[in-house]
Amino acid sequence: MQASRSKWLVTGAAGFIGSNLVESLLKLGQQVVALDNFATGHRANLRGVEEAVGADLWANFKLVEGDIRDRETCDHAVSGVDYVLHQAALGSVPRSIEDPLTANEVNVTGFLNVLEAGRRAAVKRVVYAASSATYGDETTLPASEERIGNPLSPYAATKLINEVYAGVYARTYDLKIVGLRYFNVFGPRQDPAGAYAAVIPRWVAAMIKNEEVVINGDGSTTRDFCYVADVVQANLRAALADDIACAEVYNVAVGQSTSLNKLYELIKGSLQDHDIAYEKEPSYAPFQMGDVRHSRADISKAKDRLGYSPQYVLSSGIAEALPWYIRSFEKHHA
Ligand SMILES: NC(=O)c1ccc[n+]([C@@H]2O[C@H](COP(=O)([O-])OP(=O)(O)OC[C@H]3O[C@@H](n4cnc5c(N)ncnc54)[C@H](O)[C@@H]3O)[C@@H](O)[C@H]2O)c1
Repeated sequence: MQASRSKWLVTGAAGFIGSNLVESLLKLGQQVVALDNFATGHRANLRGVEEAVGADLWANFKLVEGDIRDRETCDHAVSGVDYVLHQAALGSVPRSIEDPLTANEVNVTGFLNVLEAGRRAAVKRVVYAASSATYGDETTLPASEERIGNPLSPYAATKLINEVYAGVYARTYDLKIVGLRYFNVFGPRQDPAGAYAAVIPRWVAAMIKNEEVVINGDGSTTRDFCYVADVVQANLRAALADDIACAEVYNVAVGQSTSLNKLYELIKGSLQDHDIAYEKEPSYAPFQMGDVRHSRADISKAKDRLGYSPQYVLSSGIAEALPWYIRSFEKHHA
């Protein structure tokens, strides 16, 4: 990639995964257009990227502040772009249960606007964020791409519809498109705040602040936690793989499952390495509606066809992410 400079559009660039993609692309000498309306993303994430890459590489960055629900905005952002990495969406199962209509507008209509803009601009490839939520009530583990169940939430339905439209655009318009079914992604810049925060940043923040950690369910729920650097790797591989890899969806995970009780102990233990001794016992709340009980990915398809190879497991990812959380907590309380 360093040998040739391409232009990339990252939608949802001010978010957790989007900002990590932008940072990696800029470090590889690429030109990046970022599209975001800051619905759940933060300007601080983009400032963090600027600091990480330095002024010279930051000159290759352009922000389009706007909404993917607006077609003209999408057309404008896609103009002159080679590759689209589509991350913008409203995440969180509970948020979608609260407000299914907005979830549909952003995650389905917005998705279609990005696809349509990409098709009309004849981009080389669109890679989009699909989700493990698509497995729904299919309980066979490890989850393998071809076997999905019924979606258990509006969010899962929107992500399934994305896959349906991606197939249609591949077949009808020969758009080169790849879906990545992310499992539970974590890492620096994942938002710890708010009602819809993901479990790892929420617990890390609670432990740093010495607040109580709430575990939904009895703690036996399992997840296949995937470090964000591996998600970046999967995106770049999906964008640059041979055309034969297109019109497919791929699991992006590690292939290992961890219970919430084990995760709790792991974060607590890792914070001790930073002299943060958390002593409180967790409290247990009811299972959340729409949540799947167990999750673990079969990642052989991404390995075989994209050359994807995760470089992190949960513990090494947590070890790498913690200093960022500790620093950002200190910044806010300085
Ligand atoms: N984090 C995970 O574990 C995970 C798992 C599976 C799938 N995903 C998917 O990955 C993608 C990125 O997730 P994330 O964790 O980085 O979430 P995030 O909330 O941090 O990032 C999403 C970004 O999209 C932007 N956005 C939302 N609505 C928009 C709109 N209408 N127009 C323009 N921008 C808009 C937000 O402002 C935000 O910056 C999403 O599509 C999400 O569904 C994430």
